[in-house]
Amino acid sequence: MRTKDIGRLSHKEREILSHLDAKRLPHHIAVIMDGNGRWAKKRHLPRIAGHKRGVEAVRSVATTAANIGIPSLTLYAFSVENWKRRPKTEVTFLMTLLKTYLKQEVSTFNDNNIRLEYIGRIHELPLDVQQVMNWAKDATSQNTGMVMTLALNYGSRSELADAFNAIVEAAANNGGLEHLRKKAIDEETIGKYLYTSHLPDPDLVIRTSGEMRLSNFLLWQLAYAEIYVTETLWPDFDGKHLLTAIADFQKRERRFGGLVEKAEHSA
Ligand code: FPP
Repeated sequence: MRTKDIGRLSHKEREILSHLDAKRLPHHIAVIMDGNGRWAKKRHLPRIAGHKRGVEAVRSVATTAANIGIPSLTLYAFSVENWKRRPKTEVTFLMTLLKTYLKQEVSTFNDNNIRLEYIGRIHELPLDVQQVMNWAKDATSQNTGMVMTLALNYGSRSELADAFNAIVEAAANNGGLEHLRKKAIDEETIGKYLYTSHLPDPDLVIRTSGEMRLSNFLLWQLAYAEIYVTETLWPDFDGKHLLTAIADFQKRERRFGGLVEKAEHSA
């Protein structure tokens, strides 16, 4: 952790941070951002007001995570199910919000040394959204700090199906399907063909708004992750809540199916 970066945290964040073990920070935090609609409903506001406030929560969590030295943060912003099961007006609003968010946040990403990545069936998103996404990714590509991955039009089962199809295609191009039959597909091979091949597996997954579900998010990659569920709705979640979740993570005894905690986190 660099002194300059900690200086950017609020007084309360620094207080929580002082109780954390800097050597045992999670390497990769995944977040299921949930509760925007309920946040708005509680205030008699339209659902989109919750999504707008959700953007501020994203900013707070991303900058705090980057400033304390978390290497990777992955946010579940839009699922394949969201695409099909939400009113068209809400989906259109979310796409517009994403474009606005990316355009306005690039300076924050660059200021905090955050590199942007995406996972999901990105090619199915509207072309104008893809253009802004590519622009924002390019504009942050030189940053060397935290990798922030947005899961957009993402589903874990479709990710696995895409990976298996890519493995079959690679085998077909490399000596035909006969080659595939002889080749053992192991866990490492599957990992290389997932959208997340650029990332270690998350060691902590956070879900807001109290739901006890993974909702088709990183099912393969979360095999050994610690799960933290908070009642806080996503628009109310911020850097302080993130640090509280990390404090809880540091109390866990991680066994990876064995008897004692490994000295090093698994990749
Ligand atoms: C879940 O709340 C949230 C979403 C489906 C969208 C996530 C979007 C944001 C946090 C804001 C935009 C983010 C970016 C990166 C631009 P919900 O609508 O399912 O809430 P509910 O369960 O209370 O109805």
